[in-house]
Amino acid sequence: MQDPETTHSSLKTVEWKDNKVIMIDQTKLPNKLEYVEFSDYNDVANAIRTLIVRGAPAIGVSGAFGLALAALQSNAKTKNDLLSDLEKARTILFETRPTAINLKWGLDKIMQIAKIGETVDQIKDSVIETSKKLADEDVQTNMTMGKHGSELFENNDTIMTHCNAGALATVAYGTALGVIRATKDSGKSIKVIATETRPVQQGSRLTAFELKHDGIDVSLIADTAVGYSMSKGLVDKVVVGADRILRTGHVFNKIGTYQVATMAKKHGIPFYVAAPLSSFDMKNNPEDVVIEQRKASEVTGIGDRRTAPEGINVINPAFDMTPPELISGIITEKGIAKPPLEESIKKFFQ
Ligand code: MRU
Repeated sequence: MQDPETTHSSLKTVEWKDNKVIMIDQTKLPNKLEYVEFSDYNDVANAIRTLIVRGAPAIGVSGAFGLALAALQSNAKTKNDLLSDLEKARTILFETRPTAINLKWGLDKIMQIAKIGETVDQIKDSVIETSKKLADEDVQTNMTMGKHGSELFENNDTIMTHCNAGALATVAYGTALGVIRATKDSGKSIKVIATETRPVQQGSRLTAFELKHDGIDVSLIADTAVGYSMSKGLVDKVVVGADRILRTGHVFNKIGTYQVATMAKKHGIPFYVAAPLSSFDMKNNPEDVVIEQRKASEVTGIGDRRTAPEGINVINPAFDMTPPELISGIITEKGIAKPPLEESIKKFFQ
């Protein structure tokens, strides 16, 4: 296993240390690289809710760590009491953010393990060990995905990305940005165009920070400059992450992804999605997926500065859905799903 510390980004978004959860406080970036530590699962739930930690795989692992803290916090003397404490914590963690399926995935993995244990001590140990294992596996998965994805990119490509699907959205290395890292490491020269990603600006605050931190050539554009950049031939390919991918190949990701994909189609630019199998939801249909609606103040201002009149009505969905016909391929740790996506995805789960 490759040590995450030696992977290219030195940013470790979330980790377990001395029975505490340590996270980069992403609300402070890019101005301050600050770490916060939690020993109460309620604080982890709050960190997910308030975007201290964000990005689907990072949320999945944080949820698992949250349950590990809940196990440590529990005074239960019997297996049943411990399981009921964990179930209560699971509900609180699960209700923080509805769209990224990875949160459910991480919580379910831990609950399954907890149910197998026989004694209170055994359950506590296995819950902690499993959550640490999920974190380590996330980095390995991203690196494997990166290797597969790097084959799609050529020397001198300029790659557009939206939101932040990087080290900061995972435990380390990243999904879409992991593919970009692996492409660069394979010896190809590449440039990145990052969209600002209003309203919370994961592109300018996080992707621009992360790529600059790691010495990758990145230019920032306003979201409104996507069409301009593509029409001027400035973009060769697009790669983004995902919060949830359905068996049909519909991709839920940061608001604005659908616009980028539509523009890419219009200009004949390949549009790729990079996501681990833990981001796939093989059960639900598009209409079943809850799109998180966030507070109006994200749209009525930038940071602390108000940019809209008091009392204005706001619509603020955090995610949108890109249909399969706009997607050229989905990069996973098992390989690349090519159209027809439904058939290719099915093979990954057989
Ligand atoms: O609201 P966020 O910042 O959690 O949204 C993140 C995204 O939409 C990412 O693109 C997605 O989670 C993939 S991260 C590898």
